[in-house]
Amino acid sequence: MTAPRFLDQAYRVNSPETARSFYDDWAGSYDTEITQNGYATPGRIADALASFARDFSAPVLDFACGTGLSGAQLKRVGFAVIDGVDISSEMLDGAAEKGVYRALHLSQPGTPLPLGKGSYGVVAAVGAIGHGAAPLSMVDELLGLLQPGGLFAVSFNDKTLSDPDYQARLDSEVAAGRARLLLQEHGDHLPGIGMGATVYVLEVV
Ligand SMILES: C[S@@+](CC[C@H](N)C(=O)[O-])C[C@H]1O[C@@H](n2cnc3c(N)ncnc32)[C@H](O)[C@@H]1O
Repeated sequence: MTAPRFLDQAYRVNSPETARSFYDDWAGSYDTEITQNGYATPGRIADALASFARDFSAPVLDFACGTGLSGAQLKRVGFAVIDGVDISSEMLDGAAEKGVYRALHLSQPGTPLPLGKGSYGVVAAVGAIGHGAAPLSMVDELLGLLQPGGLFAVSFNDKTLSDPDYQARLDSEVAAGRARLLLQEHGDHLPGIGMGATVYVLEVV
């Protein structure tokens, strides 16, 4: 296994502006590096969503889709209509090459996503929220994109979970009766660097 080049820096990215340029620079070698380290979370989230989904034709949003490794797994399990959004145009170029998306959107950090409220049946945030990725505050906006009965799947890696605010944010949705927790399961994220992640699936009430 080759030594991680970008992976060891990713968890130190600490602002949206840094994130965009960091991922633009990483885009060309992202798939190789992350796959060499056994990236498991896209497959875990796709399998989890497939086990709960009732309508595979409902539109799916792959939030922070990156180069499309997550979208490819969503397609594998049978979702037919997948959109992606990301702040990095270089990562989105990689996603376009995968050929699995209906539409790809470039978003601006700190401004609302260019997507309609209630327009998705599923939102997946795979390796997308936490240290080195999008802020926890995105959870509000992502839940707002779902119709009642819609599914929200998100992963938090071990480093992110060391901050209790992440788990607490999801717990608060359930405690307030706005969502039901369908799955919470810890497992591999990037076994090549000894990193795990918890995958959550919530159903919007
Ligand atoms: C670790 S990658 C995950 C990509 C993809 N979901 C996967 O599983 O391979 C994190 C992605 O989050 C994107 N990102 C970071 N901050 C973001 C934000 N505020 N809004 C949208 N995307 C963001 C980055 O550009 C990058 O593509």
